[in-house]
Amino acid sequence: MEFRRILGLPPYVFATMNDLKAAARHDGKDIIDLGFGNPDLPSPDVAVEKLAEAVHNPRNHRYSASRGIPKIRQAIADLYLRKFDVAIDPDTEVVTTIGAKEGLSHLMWVLVGPGDTALVPSPSYPIHIYAPLFAGADVRHVRLDGSGDATNDPPGESFFDNLMEAWESAWPKPRVIVLSFPHNPTTECVDLAWMTRIVEFAREHDIVLVHDFAYADIAFDGYRPPSILEVPGAKEVAVELYTMTKSFSMAGWRVGFMVGNAEIVQALTKLKSYLDYGTFQPIQIAAIVAMNEAPDYPKYINECYQSRRDALCDGMNRIGWEITPPRGTMFVWAPIPEPYKEMGSLEFSKYLLSEADVATSPGVGFGPGGDGHVRFALIENEQRTGQAIRNMRKALTRLN
Ligand SMILES: Cc1ncc(COP(=O)(O)O)c(C=O)c1O
Repeated sequence: MEFRRILGLPPYVFATMNDLKAAARHDGKDIIDLGFGNPDLPSPDVAVEKLAEAVHNPRNHRYSASRGIPKIRQAIADLYLRKFDVAIDPDTEVVTTIGAKEGLSHLMWVLVGPGDTALVPSPSYPIHIYAPLFAGADVRHVRLDGSGDATNDPPGESFFDNLMEAWESAWPKPRVIVLSFPHNPTTECVDLAWMTRIVEFAREHDIVLVHDFAYADIAFDGYRPPSILEVPGAKEVAVELYTMTKSFSMAGWRVGFMVGNAEIVQALTKLKSYLDYGTFQPIQIAAIVAMNEAPDYPKYINECYQSRRDALCDGMNRIGWEITPPRGTMFVWAPIPEPYKEMGSLEFSKYLLSEADVATSPGVGFGPGGDGHVRFALIENEQRTGQAIRNMRKALTRLN
């Protein structure tokens, strides 16, 4: 049988690593898992309790609203006003999604098709590349160097130049630019002035900006990631995906939102009304409670990640693997140390797994632009992270 839409998909690199990790565990090894960015911290108690209560009400067992019940759209509008001082109309400028990933995927069906082009950072969170491809569009990869790559440029500067160059050379002109800051996997962060420049460019050239804001709340050392909607006039061209996954550690609940340009929001709302009946209503109710009654939970989550980041980066620097600590995301994007560079990221990840019992994500899984790096996810506590450092010191004998 031939399945044309998935025929061109390369084997998922992360699946290879997961199989190796499972096999190592099956052999009795104590693998320290810094691979998959799957949050380990619990969801807020108030949300768990509300879910348990709401699930007992048969009224909540029916189909829910695909675009989200009114109170959840109001709760996200309140959150945007509180957090970013951005006013959102809950009736026309919000649609609930089944996580940011689903939202972004179906959004691309709305925005692009065969003959259209999208500019996407490289390396990238895989769905940023595959969502426009699934929709039939052409994808141009735009080089994004991480903050640890010592380009000496201000954050986002070389990426901005690369975007301009890609725009100039592309024909037909791209309809969409995908952005996501703080950035997975490179951890690159930008400021409001950067966002302002790209919004001005998009308004001038009639381009849609899709900003995946999955790490809106995961930022360190006093840095505050800007929402693209903070830029005056951004709603003319931009939509943003905000998710409960990382901010509230509610990954499995599958609650996200798309906010911004009303025309685009309405277009996705229409498509989704054909595709789904919305997130299970008790989950929506619990998400409302999380946003309204645990507004400081993201700060607690953030402190946990910052402490783990410090444990990992301090440890790596101590053993001679030089790392610039990230300002945002729950990841450390680590250039493969010089003596091991020729292995490439997949072989190096396999080496760390077999010799140090440490699972990482090979950079090549985020596109060819990622092959010089491996990504550590901050999903083990400080003690386990310390153990990972001790294991790596023994395994990486050529570091010093
Ligand atoms: C950039 C980015 N977007 C989206 C997601 C997934 O978000 P959600 O769970 O809301 O689908 C992730 C998760 O790792 C991510 O890194």
